[in-house]
Amino acid sequence: MNADLDRAAEAILRKNDRGRYTVPNGRVYPFQWNWDSAFVALGFDRFDRDRAWTEIESLFQAQWEDGFVPHIVFWQEDPGYFPGPAVWGTGRAPMTSGITQPPVAASVVRRLWDSARAAGEEARFRPRLEALFDRLLAWHRWFRDHRDPGARGIVVAVHPWETGRDNAPEWDAPGEAIDVSNVGDYVRRDTSHLDAKMRPTKLEYDRYLALVQFGRALGWDHARIGRESPFQVADVGMSMILLRANRDLAALADALGREAEGVEIRQMVARAERGISWLWNEDVKAWCSRDLLTGRSSGFVTSASFLSFYAGLVDPARDGAMLAHLDRIGKAVPYLMPSLDPADPGFQMIRYWRGPVWAVVNYMIGTGLAESGYAAAADRVRGDTRSLIARNGFYEAFSPIDGTGSGGDDFSWTAAIWLAWRP
Ligand code: DGY
Repeated sequence: MNADLDRAAEAILRKNDRGRYTVPNGRVYPFQWNWDSAFVALGFDRFDRDRAWTEIESLFQAQWEDGFVPHIVFWQEDPGYFPGPAVWGTGRAPMTSGITQPPVAASVVRRLWDSARAAGEEARFRPRLEALFDRLLAWHRWFRDHRDPGARGIVVAVHPWETGRDNAPEWDAPGEAIDVSNVGDYVRRDTSHLDAKMRPTKLEYDRYLALVQFGRALGWDHARIGRESPFQVADVGMSMILLRANRDLAALADALGREAEGVEIRQMVARAERGISWLWNEDVKAWCSRDLLTGRSSGFVTSASFLSFYAGLVDPARDGAMLAHLDRIGKAVPYLMPSLDPADPGFQMIRYWRGPVWAVVNYMIGTGLAESGYAAAADRVRGDTRSLIARNGFYEAFSPIDGTGSGGDDFSWTAAIWLAWRP
């Protein structure tokens, strides 16, 4: 049966492959998404190594001169998605959005490199690694220079879409500062493909659009947006992911003999190891996002809170507190890891990032737990993910209560994680 599912996962990636990039799902998301592509490469790597590297290379073809890597690359027009390139108005070729997404790519490239070496293909892939390394480093410098004003080694998001966790409740209070009075009329496309109960609300969409209009009015000047945006939230997810990505990039610098760059990257790691405690919330004893403009911690325990293990942070007291949350949540729901603590009154089992389980987040949580020596917890997260997929299909996300698929079906990153976690 697992062999059938392996073949089904490969078939989904082939179906969603548009040549040099993969769409997350042809109807709902018909373009190249940044962190989707990175995870997708992990899946391709299990059966087509060249295609895996191409996925990352095509994403970085859309990198801007300042190092920024967009969250969507609109390689071709498609009326099935809103907001399309005309709304973003970045004026780039290829057409792109003006915001970024969680920087998982360096960690994926390290995996691709390790896999190529294990297969004796080091010489063939080294030139491709050399080229990608410089681009990854430019992106990480962009985060350091534009999204970390307090030099804490964290990532400040200027749009909920940047976090990848679009409608997480962590953005509710900070979102109140966004003026939506001039957004105007628009037609959403997501709710014509999917049940509106699974998607963000109208108020959330108004805020998303207002922030797009804000960036556009500033000519997508990232330095100004970073300083002036009405939404500036230190995202615990992106911050943990970048810390991890910098550790992986430092390892790649060593592999390539890039000493000076290795020193620079390790400075970014050290900065985060000193500063990221700013995201620890002692009241709820968890890692939480924090509003940079008001200084307030969200106080929400989300799946992103558990990425501290993936980030390689070691602190016995805090790790113990996070494992206690994991144990409690694991008793409350059959499937880990819900995107919001099920004890929270705002928990909704099928609404996007307010409850459902996401395979890619589980992959990072499970990887981090295993590397930190918490084998039983890691096995639970991995086993739950595999059961959800095996029983329900390759959905975008899943209810942690009954496993119902939520969002798009035949979803690329879910197929990729199935393959990446193949025994
Ligand atoms: C969407 O359109 O729902 C995406 O998540 C934005 O990146």
